[in-house]
Parts: sequence; C-alpha cells; structure tokens
Amino acid sequence: MVANSKIAHPKIEELRAKRDQSRAGGGPERIKKQHESGRSTARERLDILLDPNSFRELDAFVQHRATDFGMDKNRHLGDSVVTGWGTINGRLVYVYSQDFTVTGGSLSEVHAAKICKIMEMAMKTGAPVIGLNDSGGARIQEGVMSLGGYADIFLRNTLASGVIPQISVIMGPCAGGAVYSPALTDFIFMVKKTSYMFITGPEVVRSVTHEEVTSEELGGASVHASKSGVCHMVGENETETLMLVREMLSFIPQNNMEDPPFAPNSDDPLRADPELDTIIPDSPNKPYDVKEIISRIVDDGHFYEVHSEYAQNMVVGFARLGGHSVGIIANQPMVLAGVLDIKASEKAARFIRFCDCFNIPLITFVDVPGYMPGVEQEHGGIIMAGAKLVYAYCEATVPKLTVTTRKSYGGAYCVMSSKHIRGDLNLAWPSAEIAVMGPDGAVNIIFRREIAEAEDPVARKNELVQEYREKFASPYIAAARGYIDDIIEPRDTRARLINGLNVFQNKRDSNPPRKHGNMPL
Ligand code: HXC
Repeated sequence: MVANSKIAHPKIEELRAKRDQSRAGGGPERIKKQHESGRSTARERLDILLDPNSFRELDAFVQHRATDFGMDKNRHLGDSVVTGWGTINGRLVYVYSQDFTVTGGSLSEVHAAKICKIMEMAMKTGAPVIGLNDSGGARIQEGVMSLGGYADIFLRNTLASGVIPQISVIMGPCAGGAVYSPALTDFIFMVKKTSYMFITGPEVVRSVTHEEVTSEELGGASVHASKSGVCHMVGENETETLMLVREMLSFIPQNNMEDPPFAPNSDDPLRADPELDTIIPDSPNKPYDVKEIISRIVDDGHFYEVHSEYAQNMVVGFARLGGHSVGIIANQPMVLAGVLDIKASEKAARFIRFCDCFNIPLITFVDVPGYMPGVEQEHGGIIMAGAKLVYAYCEATVPKLTVTTRKSYGGAYCVMSSKHIRGDLNLAWPSAEIAVMGPDGAVNIIFRREIAEAEDPVARKNELVQEYREKFASPYIAAARGYIDDIIEPRDTRARLINGLNVFQNKRDSNPPRKHGNMPL
C-alpha cells in the first residue's frame, strides 16, 4: 500500500494520484474547520477504531451522478462516506464513516449505495457493521434519490437485525429521518458535546412549538443517555468513544450462528467472597449497591455497564464469568428501591433481546419490590412496557441463571427470569423474600379489620408483619416447590454461576415455528 514511492508506471502514478485525491476528502480548509469544531475526520476516526493497518477501503472512486444546483461541478472521489472492512482485536468488522468535509457528509444516492454494499457483505460473511455518523442528512440537491437511499439502508438494518451486531456511533450531527438508521441498530454511542441527534432541529422546534432550545439541550449525548434512552454509551471525546466500541465487541460474537468469544483469565472460578455474606443490610428497606455485588462476582471485577445513565433502577451490561461472556440484568435497590417502571422494563427488555439474538447467557440479580404504582406510570403504559420485559425473558432461549438476593415480590417475581418462564438455574440467598407482596402491604390487606379492631393497632400490625415475614418472606417456600433450585451461601455465588454456565452452555431450547411473535410494542 505504498502510495508515494518514486518509481512507477504512469498508470500506477494515475492510480496513486486518484487515491490521494479520494483520501483528501473535502480539502485542507474543510478539514481545518472539522478539527476546529473538536472533531476528527472520517479517516482519522477509522484509524483510531480499527487495528493498525487493517483497513481496506472499497468504492474510493465512486462519484455521485447529480447535476442539478451546480452539483456537476461539486464531485469528490468516494463522495461523502468512507467504507470498507478492517479488524478489531483481530476480528473482522465492516465500517462506514461519513465524511463531513464533503458536502457536510450529506447522504447522496451513491453514499447510501456504498453503505448498503458493505452491509450486504457483512450479512454474507457474518461480521458486525459499525457506522460512524457525521452528516447533514439527506443530500438536499438530490431530492427523492437521497430519501430512497435512506430507505434502502433502513431495510438492510432491519434485515440484518439479530443476524449480525450493528453499532452506531454518532460523532457529529444526525438529524431528520437519518436518526432511524442508528435507531434500528443494536447500540448507539455518542460523543459528549460534539454530537447530537434529533428528528427536527432547534429552528423547527422554535417555529412549531415556540420552545427555545439549543442543539445540545435538544439532542446532545447527555440528554439521550439519561432522558430519552436513545443513547447507550457516551464517551468524553471521540477516542474514548471509539475505545468503548472496541471493548463492547469483545463480549459479542460475530453473528447469530456463533458463540460469544471465550476469554480465559486468571481469576479463580472457585473464588469465594465472604464479604458477600453480609452485604445485604439487616433492614429490608435499606438500600445497597447491586453493582458492588456484580463486580465482586464477575471475572477481575470488570463490569461493562450499558445504558448506565438511563433508568438507573435497572442495571444492565456485559461481563465475564470463568471466561464466558454474559449479559447481566440487575434490579438496583439504590435507585427507587429497584422498582420496575416503564423505562427500566424497556431498558432491560431490549438488552435481553440483544443477548438472546447473539447467544449471550443471561445472569439476573433480583431484588425488586414490584412494579411501580401511580397514575403517571399507568397512563404512560406500564402495562405494555412491563409486558415487554415478560416477553423478552419468556422468549429468550439462551442459558438463564438467576440469583435472588432479597425481595422478589408479585408480578416482578414471575418476570425476573423465574423458573416458570424457563429459568435454567434459579438460586437464592438466605436473605431472599419471595412472596405476593411485601409484608407491610400484605398485612394491611389481609388483616385490615383485625388491625383496626385491635386494642393497640400499631403493635398488632407489627406482630402480624413479623409473623408474615417469618412465614412467607423467605426463599424456603419457593424452594419447597422447586421454584428455587438451591439456596446458597452468598460467598459461593461466583463458583455456582460459573458451574451453571458450564452445565448449560450446550443447552438447546427453541420456540414454536412462526413468522415472528407479536411482542407488545
Ligand atoms: C447538501 C449539505 C447538507 C445537506 C450540509 N451541507 N448539509 N449539503 N445537503 N443536507 C453542506 C453545506 O452546504 C456546506 O457546504 C457543508 O455541507 C457544511 O455545512 P455547514 O452548514 O457549513 O456546516 P455547519 O455550520 O457545521 O452546520 C451543519 C448542519 C447544517 C447543522 C448539519 O449544515 C444543516 O443544518 N444542514 C442541513 C440539515 C438538514 O436539514 N438536513 C436535511 C434533514 S432531513 P459548503 O460547500 O458550503 O461547505 C433528512 C431527511 C432524511 O435528512 C429522511 C430519511 C427518511
């Protein structure tokens, strides 16, 4: 790949000159502007993302065919996107990187065709697609051809869903219908302060709803990571964001026919952690951080959390257990007592479905007081959102291992990977409380009259709560029915989960043949 060695045949010289021209993008001025805006160029980004010297470019000589609005004099070799393949940690990936220095990275007919070409190759060869987005949207001068190009990409995103992993990285503007390609992919990464996504920008918002808002407030990384939930991972800068992408891929297989990469390490699979025996507070209403439990159990204490700023009452992410890649789903007692609300249900459901698509076993840590009550939640559709979580767990056929650390009440008991919905190994700590509802609520309902008529209602209620707790709020009744496979000492959780993964790694389970289910969207 020597581009500029001195002795060459004229035809080779021509090739080199054209390649250099293609690589120059929109030229030094526009590249300078790009750098001044705190952004790298399309090619610089690929250099950071991919293994050194692994990138092989395709379609570097493609040109658009538009002639209207002076476009016949505005042609760049390769047009406004760089496409091809390369490797990440030695594994094949397909990439496209939109070049903002060429017509604002806008999507022309040929720009779309270049993206579609690598998507089709990725589908055929079973490798992930990573899209680096930095674009002013549809190429205005090309009209419907550009819109058609978007639709061509949406179709391929949809057909590739669940077949190959698709990752979108937003590194500049991503506006209008352009947002729907990233939204159809598995994970969206954004860069703090220099990227934004919205259906309509601040100008349109101002004229339609009279709201004054900046691009950052409307669709910046922080907003999408914490409020809308559109964004899964945020990097402080472009390099950090691209490193996060590289790391995520280490947990994921190349396609739906492969198992996730096994990465043996030096963390003892039998390592016991006595601190876990006392990590659950004595008071059932006192919170603790489930992330501490997770990091004490997984290999080398490393948990790659996904969607960390959104619906923090539910924790999801990747880790390794005995070298196996796993997807972890955990109620977080530190936030809203770990209750299941609309956002938490949808967050977990989508993550579970991703793991199930790509053969990644699910490890669920349960400490959940139930579904969130309230008018706002009911009117917001908690019924359908909660059903999504049920659906996701029920249809998942990957190994499903569950650890109930404390509360598992009501509908949430059924939902959180219970035995009844094909949980493979359901373990509980002695601190688990598995019942229809918490002791307080239960006693208020079934002993309402008795409490009201008691000489000292408060004392009587406390007595009944205690009685209920002793009788029902333990794991033993569930274990007596076989709904819990074993009650374990917390210190042994790591060893038991790794053993379970080894046992169930060859599990075969399936769903009835059908076109597709009708999940509660
Ligand atoms: C053609 C475009 C373009 C576009 C930008 N450019 N967007 N050319 N089509 N969509 C060109 C500009 O003319 C300019 O060319 C160069 O790219 C850089 O743009 P600037 O405006 O100078 O950059 P900046 O100030 O950083 O502003 C970036 C921007 C702005 C915010 C993205 O360019 C912008 O608002 N663009 C239009 C966004 C938009 O409305 N797109 C359509 C969305 S609807 P020169 O030659 O001067 O350097 C859509 C529908 C998709 O996408 C539907 C799918 C179903």
